[in-house]
Amino acid sequence: MSGLNPRFRQALQAALERYETPFYAYDLTSIQAKVSALRAAFPQAELFFAMKANPRLGILRRLLGLGVFLEAVSLGEVRRAYAAGFKRKEVLLNGPLKTPAMLAELKEIGVPILGLDSLPDAERVTRHLPGSHVILRVNPDLPVLTHDHLATGRGESKFGILPQDIGRALKIARAGDLDVLGLHVHLGSALERAEDFHAGYALMEQLYKEHGPFEVLNLGGGFGLGLDLTRLAPAALGLAERLGVELWLEPGRYLVAEAGVLVTRTWGLKQTRRKFLLVDAGMSHLLRPMLYGAQHPVEPLYKGGAPQTFDLAGPACESGDILAKDLTLPTPKEGDALAIMQAGAYGSSMSSNYLDTPRPLELLWTGEEWEVLRRRQSWESLLLEEQPGEGG
Ligand SMILES: Cc1ncc(COP(=O)(O)O)c(C=O)c1O
Repeated sequence: MSGLNPRFRQALQAALERYETPFYAYDLTSIQAKVSALRAAFPQAELFFAMKANPRLGILRRLLGLGVFLEAVSLGEVRRAYAAGFKRKEVLLNGPLKTPAMLAELKEIGVPILGLDSLPDAERVTRHLPGSHVILRVNPDLPVLTHDHLATGRGESKFGILPQDIGRALKIARAGDLDVLGLHVHLGSALERAEDFHAGYALMEQLYKEHGPFEVLNLGGGFGLGLDLTRLAPAALGLAERLGVELWLEPGRYLVAEAGVLVTRTWGLKQTRRKFLLVDAGMSHLLRPMLYGAQHPVEPLYKGGAPQTFDLAGPACESGDILAKDLTLPTPKEGDALAIMQAGAYGSSMSSNYLDTPRPLELLWTGEEWEVLRRRQSWESLLLEEQPGEGG
């Protein structure tokens, strides 16, 4: 999305008259368009939305309506997926650790498809949940180009089973009576180079030939916003066809990032040795700039004066609480609003209560009206778990 869609911009102006900032706002029509684009590029693929990108029930239910399944990475996410109406076989649980307590709880609530991430993980699952449907996550040991924290496919990352250990993992899984559906790779997130995917696909073909046949190849997510899908899709589809496997994908960011904005009001310029524009959203609402040095475009929702350049500073008492650097915008008046763009993925889901900041309101623009997906967290709920009582 280059700039805000004019209808969404208009809707945001109306939302600003009703709701206090900061708030997240999502454009459902954008999410629907992204699902259609992925389906057009990968017509035979089963899509598992990486719900960590945006777990709002109102979004998950709409994706379910579009036939998109879920990729989860925690017990909480599995519970949320079931609460949204997904069935066990429509949920894939990945993640490096599944404790015995977690596996026992899965037995109670329904065991999803399990992604096995290591040899100990495979052993533990065979002991606690024999008969489960599983896929094996490969650590492809490839030098993918992205932020270090997002490069899950590098050999040094904590994820997956190295290619040379896949045979042992398969032996454990099969001896333990697990139903091995296939292999999985997630190369990393926010990847922009088609070559990284091509290298991963080639490795998966090699592993399939060594250890297959399998029913499924899960080629993960990680599609960066600038990635040209037409450079990937033929390779992925060709691979699935040659091997006769079902193709699974796990997009997160691609489906929801551009649908969402974080709306914040500006409260004046401040000069130290740098110039800052103070806004009412910060790292507690949107952590990505601080965590990954992520750059989010910013659009003014006002008509301002002469342009000025400044950093966008949040309210937290942390010098790293800067949402954007060297931003040039028309000079705002007090109370003017900004849209921090591409905030629909890993925005709200990574928000925190740091500094007793309530989690913000989240709104969905259906194309006709605003729907509240999540109310702003109440002050009372921030104190709830500290009231005297049972528990631990
Ligand atoms: C296993 C797995 N699949 C899919 C994703 C989604 O990645 P993205 O949002 O970059 O598509 C992630 C992200 O961390 C992941 O770890």
